[in-house]
Amino acid sequence: MFSKKMEEALNNQVNAEFYSAWYYLSMAVWAKNKGFDGTYNFMVKQAQEEEGHAMKFINYIIDVGGKVELKGIEKPPASFESLKDVFAKALEHEKYVTSLINKLVALAEEEKDYATYNFLQWFIEEQVEEESTMSGILTKLEMIGDSKNGLFMIDSKLGER
Ligand code: FEO
Repeated sequence: MFSKKMEEALNNQVNAEFYSAWYYLSMAVWAKNKGFDGTYNFMVKQAQEEEGHAMKFINYIIDVGGKVELKGIEKPPASFESLKDVFAKALEHEKYVTSLINKLVALAEEEKDYATYNFLQWFIEEQVEEESTMSGILTKLEMIGDSKNGLFMIDSKLGER
């Protein structure tokens, strides 16, 4: 069993992961309205992954005998300037999530909570991947600028996820 402080921190992460899903769904809907069907598909899958992350935290809290407390999810931004803006914000958000995971790891270390420390290792790796994915797409979008052909091609590629 973990400490009350750790239980609260893990519950906050459940909320942060569901917020991530909400945020990416908002990006998906924006993209669909702008005709970026591929990005819609990509972001819906991303939102599903985030829900999966939240469930991992929920299951861990239950496994360790803690109490899951679901909280209200904040309203995410609904409008974006461009496809580039979407991915710039997605990258910024993933960096923020990485900082949250790092804080959890630091707390686990501080409390000598090795079970939680071990559980969090998967998320450390996952965050490297998430940041790299968003950053790679953003770099491509920066390269093509306003080219309609380029945007069309990137959007189609994103639809293959
Ligand atoms: Fe659950 Fe994209 O971090």
